[in-house]
Amino acid sequence: MKTTRRQFIQVGALSSLSLLSSQGQARRRIDSSDYSLISYKAHHFSEQKNIKPVQTEGVIPQEIKGELFRIAPGNKLKFGEELDHFFDGDAYLTKIKIAESQVEIQSSFLETEKFLREQSSQKRIYSDFGTSVPGLYRPKKDAPSINVIPYDNKLLALSDTSLPSLIDPQTFEVEDLYDFSGALPSDMTFSAHPKYDFATKKYYAMGLKKSLAKTLVLFTLDDQNNDVQILNEISLDIFPLIHDFMLTKNYIVLIVPPIEFSIWNMVFNQKSYGDSIREATDFTTQMIVCDKQTGAFVSEFKMPHFFSFHHVNAYEENSKICFDSIVAEDSRIFDYLNVWNKKSRPKSTTQTMLRHFEVDLESSEVEFDNYDGLTNIEFPSMKLDAIGTKMNYCYLIQSSRPDEPLAFNKLVKTDLRSSKSKLFEFEEHQVCGEALFVPRGPSVIEDDGYLLSLGYDRHRDESFLQIVEAQRMVHQARVWLGRRVPLGFHGCFINRN
Ligand SMILES: [Fe+2]
Repeated sequence: MKTTRRQFIQVGALSSLSLLSSQGQARRRIDSSDYSLISYKAHHFSEQKNIKPVQTEGVIPQEIKGELFRIAPGNKLKFGEELDHFFDGDAYLTKIKIAESQVEIQSSFLETEKFLREQSSQKRIYSDFGTSVPGLYRPKKDAPSINVIPYDNKLLALSDTSLPSLIDPQTFEVEDLYDFSGALPSDMTFSAHPKYDFATKKYYAMGLKKSLAKTLVLFTLDDQNNDVQILNEISLDIFPLIHDFMLTKNYIVLIVPPIEFSIWNMVFNQKSYGDSIREATDFTTQMIVCDKQTGAFVSEFKMPHFFSFHHVNAYEENSKICFDSIVAEDSRIFDYLNVWNKKSRPKSTTQTMLRHFEVDLESSEVEFDNYDGLTNIEFPSMKLDAIGTKMNYCYLIQSSRPDEPLAFNKLVKTDLRSSKSKLFEFEEHQVCGEALFVPRGPSVIEDDGYLLSLGYDRHRDESFLQIVEAQRMVHQARVWLGRRVPLGFHGCFINRN
C-alpha cells in the first residue's frame, strides 16, 4: 500500500485539552430564507406544497429492486427557532421503492410521542442534540434520526442516545423506545450502527447504561426470533461518544475515543448532549477486543490520540487485527458541528482522513498509515456481506469545499490495497449523501453492483437519487424526486432482488 507515513506509536501521550462548544447563546427567531448554505437546504425538509412528478434520467437497472430508506434530523427550524447543531431536528423518514425500473416515494416526519407533544403544544419541550430548551430541567428529545435498519419485517430507527423506535415500513407508524420485550434496560443508549453478521445471521450491537457506573453493554439481536442476548457488560473510565464499532471473524472491536459526555448530565438532564461533550482528560483513544461468540474481554490497547465517528471494516491477519477508520486528529469538528449553519463559523475545522491500523495481539504494537488524498471524507460503506473479512473496496463521500465541509460533492471508491481512488463528481450546485452499495446479484466480484446516493440540487431546489455503476464509477441513472427531502446521514436498502 502506498502511504504518506508509517510509524510505530508511542502510547501514553495526550494532546492538549480543550473544552468543547460554546454554550448558552441567545436564541433568535429566523426564517429559513436567511440561509444560503447549500448544506442547510439539503438537510432541511420542505413543506411539499408543489410536488412534481418523478423524472428519471438514464436507465434504472432491473436488478435494483427493493426499498431504500433514508432517515434524517429533518428540520433546522422548530416553531421559528433556529436549531444550532448539525445533528438537531425531528426524525424524518424517506422511502424510495424501486421495482421494474419504476420509483415510488413516501416521506414524512416520524410521529413519535415527543414529536406529537411538541406539535400539540406548538412549542419546544425537549432539548435537541445540541440545542437546549430553557429551564433547569431540560429533557432530551432523542429523535430516532441517525440511522434506520431492517428488523423483523419492520424497521428500527436509531437515535444513538436512547432505545430504538420500531417503525412500520408501510405506514411509518411508530412504537417509541422499543426494549425488545423488556430484554434491554429502558434507560440505555443503543448505538446507531449495529452490524449484521452474515455468518450467524444476527445483529451485533452495543449501548451504554445511563448511570454513574459507565457500563457498555454488548448484545446480539436475532431478528428471525426477536431474541436479544446480552453478551457482556464492560465498565469504562468515561461515558464516551462511541458511535460505531467493528466485527472480525472472531472478535468484536471497540474503539473508545477520548471524547465524553458529562455523566451528570446524562443522568440528570441538565443540558443538551452537544453542550455536555468534552475532551476526556487523562485518557487516550482505547481499543477493546472481545470474543465475538461469548462477548468475553480479550485485551485492550492504548492507541494514538484520534477521534472517529465511523469505521470502514476490520479483519484478522496472522496475529493482527487490521482495520480502516475515518479519523480526525483533534476535536475541532465538534466546534464546527455546533455552529455549522452560522455566517460566522470557525475558519477551519478538523480534516477527516482515511487511516489504516494494524494492531498485533501478541506484541501489542500498533502501526498506522494514512491513505493518499483522502481528506474531508465521511460515511464509509462497503459490500455488506464482506464485513469482517479483508476486502478490496470501500465507498466514501468527500467535500472539496473548504467553506462548506459538510456539503459533500464527490462519491469516492477507494481500492484499499493499492490506495487508488475513482471519483464520481457532482456539479457545483449539488451535494450528496452516504452511498450504499447494492450488488447486481449473487456475484463474487466485490464491486459488481451499484451505488445509491441521495443528492440535492440547489438550482432546482429538488432532491434526487443518483445511481452509479460501481465498477467504473460512472453515471447509471438519476431519479429526480420532485420534492426536497432532507439528506440525513444513514439508511438501508432492503433488497427484493
Ligand atoms: Fe453514523
